[in-house]
Amino acid sequence: MYLFKKNQDLQTYLNQARNQGKQVGFVPTMGALHKGHLSLIEQALQENDLVVCSIFVNPTQFDDKTDLVNYPKPVEKDINLLQQVGCQVLYLPDANEVYPENIKLIDLDLNGLDKTMEGAHRDGHFRGVVQVVHRLLDIVQPNALYMGQKDFQQYTIIKYMIQQLQLTVRLVRVPIMREADGLAMSSRNIRLGKQGRTKAALISTILFEIKERAKEQQDLLKLKQEALLKFQAADMSVDYFEIVDANTLQDLKHWKEAEEIVACTTVRVDGVRLLDNILLKS
Ligand code: PAJ
Repeated sequence: MYLFKKNQDLQTYLNQARNQGKQVGFVPTMGALHKGHLSLIEQALQENDLVVCSIFVNPTQFDDKTDLVNYPKPVEKDINLLQQVGCQVLYLPDANEVYPENIKLIDLDLNGLDKTMEGAHRDGHFRGVVQVVHRLLDIVQPNALYMGQKDFQQYTIIKYMIQQLQLTVRLVRVPIMREADGLAMSSRNIRLGKQGRTKAALISTILFEIKERAKEQQDLLKLKQEALLKFQAADMSVDYFEIVDANTLQDLKHWKEAEEIVACTTVRVDGVRLLDNILLKS
C-alpha cells in the first residue's frame, strides 16, 4: 500500500493511474477503523481499479473540542487493517494540506437538511462535514465516493451537495455493518460497559421490529409512538427517533408521502451516543 501525506505526491500518483484508464474509488474516514469502515473499502475494491482511503480527523466538524482532542488515533493499527483488506492508497494528510492558508472553503446552504436530528444536537457539524468532503473530493478527484448508511443524514447531505454543485462523482451508499447481536458497528462501542453493551443491542432489535410493524401500520405518527414506547419500556434514553423522507429528512405522517422512508435514531447508553437507522421503504 502507498501512503501519501502530501497532496502533490498523491495527485502525481493518481494522475498516472488515471492516464492508464484506472477507475478510482474513494473512502473518506477519520480512522480508528473497524469492520464497518472496511466494508466500504471492500465494496470500493470490487467496483474500482484503485481505492484511496483517507484518514483525517477533521477539526471543523467537531462542535465539542474535547471530543476532537480525545478522538482515538491508532494509526499503525489502521495501516495494518488497510493492508489486510488490500487497499492500495492511504492518504494521511495533516491539517495544513487539507486547509492551507487562503483556501476558499465551500459554505453551502443545506436547505434545512443540517437542522434536524443530528444537526439539532451538533451545531455546525454538517457544515464542517460538507467542507471537508468537498475539499477531499477536490484533492482526490475520484470516480466514486463511498459513504456508510450508518450515518444516514451525513450521506443524504453529501448527496445533496453533489447534486447542488453538479459534481460528476458517483456516490455509493454502503449498508450498515452490524455486530452478531445487531448493534451497528462504531468506534464508540468500546466505551460501553458490559451491561450497556447488552442494552445497546436493543436499539437494532427495536428498529427491526418497527420495520416489521410498518407492513401493517402506515400511520407513521402511530408507528413512531410505538417505537418510543418500546425504548421507554427498555429504559433507554432517546435523543431522537424520527421517521423521515430519505431525501428531504422531513418528518412524515403517512407511508404514502415518500418513496424512500427511513427511521433514524440516536440513543444514549452509558452516556455514549449511539446512532442507528433502518430503511422502512425503499
Ligand atoms: P467516520 O466516522 O470515520 O466514518 C467513515 C465512514 O464509515 C462513513 O461513511 C460512515 O458512515 C462509515 N461507517 C461507520 N460505521 C459504519 C458501519 N457500521 N457500517 C457501514 N459504514 C460505517 O463519517 C466520518 O468518518 C466523517 O464525518 C467523514 C465523512 C470522514 C468526514 O470527516
